[in-house]
Amino acid sequence: MRYTIRPLDASTWAAFAELAARNNGVYGGCWCMAYHLEVSRTDAAQNRAGKERRVRGGRAHAALVFDDYGTAQGWCQYGSPEELPGIKHRREYEKDAPPHPDWRITCFFVDKRHRGQGIARAALEGALDQIAHLGGGLVEAISEVTTCREAQGRFLFSATVELFEQNGFTRVRKVGKHAWIVSRVIESAPSIGQPVSSPPVPEQRPDLLDAAKRAERPFPRASAGPAGSAPAMHSGGSVRAPAQPIGDAL
Ligand SMILES: CC(C)(COP(=O)(O)OP(=O)(O)OC[C@H]1O[C@@H](n2cnc3c(N)ncnc32)[C@H](O)[C@@H]1OP(=O)(O)O)[C@@H](O)C(=O)NCCC(=O)NCCS
Repeated sequence: MRYTIRPLDASTWAAFAELAARNNGVYGGCWCMAYHLEVSRTDAAQNRAGKERRVRGGRAHAALVFDDYGTAQGWCQYGSPEELPGIKHRREYEKDAPPHPDWRITCFFVDKRHRGQGIARAALEGALDQIAHLGGGLVEAISEVTTCREAQGRFLFSATVELFEQNGFTRVRKVGKHAWIVSRVIESAPSIGQPVSSPPVPEQRPDLLDAAKRAERPFPRASAGPAGSAPAMHSGGSVRAPAQPIGDAL
């Protein structure tokens, strides 16, 4: 499958919202707000509204991956340290903090039914390309080594060290049992180009328009689920409880 990568902004908000809503707001209703340090642990609708405000105000960045049908299937979140002040393993990180980065890559998400098809890889490549067109600089991430261990995808929200290394990152310092700071300098690229191919616009896809409208509705309030319960799913109007408190990623 060939993917199209577009920046998350006002023009792609509806597609992002549809993907997040299809996955119950992601991580129990976080709406990818945890690393902005603005997450509500109880109110998914508040997280959704906060994310939309940020996206429309240019204060949230991500490379959004679209499939051949023009449906968003995943993203890689990035931004300046001011935009994304959340740091995984902060205590260990701050014991010997590396040089202040220009950019952080903090969070990946891929639709549950589309994992293992290279979407996170495409999202990371897209994020690096977008960073280059935004001026480049030192890019930092805190990710997980998975070689020689069984790692569940649902907990790999910062992807894998191996994937970053395949994209030119090097390990800086270990900050957790499997967690490493990785970094790479990205050269500046001249200007933002057009995507290789554009996904169909919603007006040409009535089903997308419907989905986008549905996604505009307030998201059901997430409730704390029993320990070890399955991840929350939103299907056919019924909502199962999330597996973990909202925004427990940090
Ligand atoms: C982790 C995640 C992003 C991977 O997405 P994906 O599209 O399936 O990943 P890709 O197919 O692009 O795989 C790229 C590389 O990542 C690595 N990888 C992905 N899933 C892995 C897993 N479960 N274990 C080990 N490595 C894995 C592999 O190195 C793979 O390279 P390979 O194809 O050469 O083996 C996805 O499982 C996910 O979204 N998990 C949920 C994360 C989440 O909840 N985020 C929101 C938190 S707020």
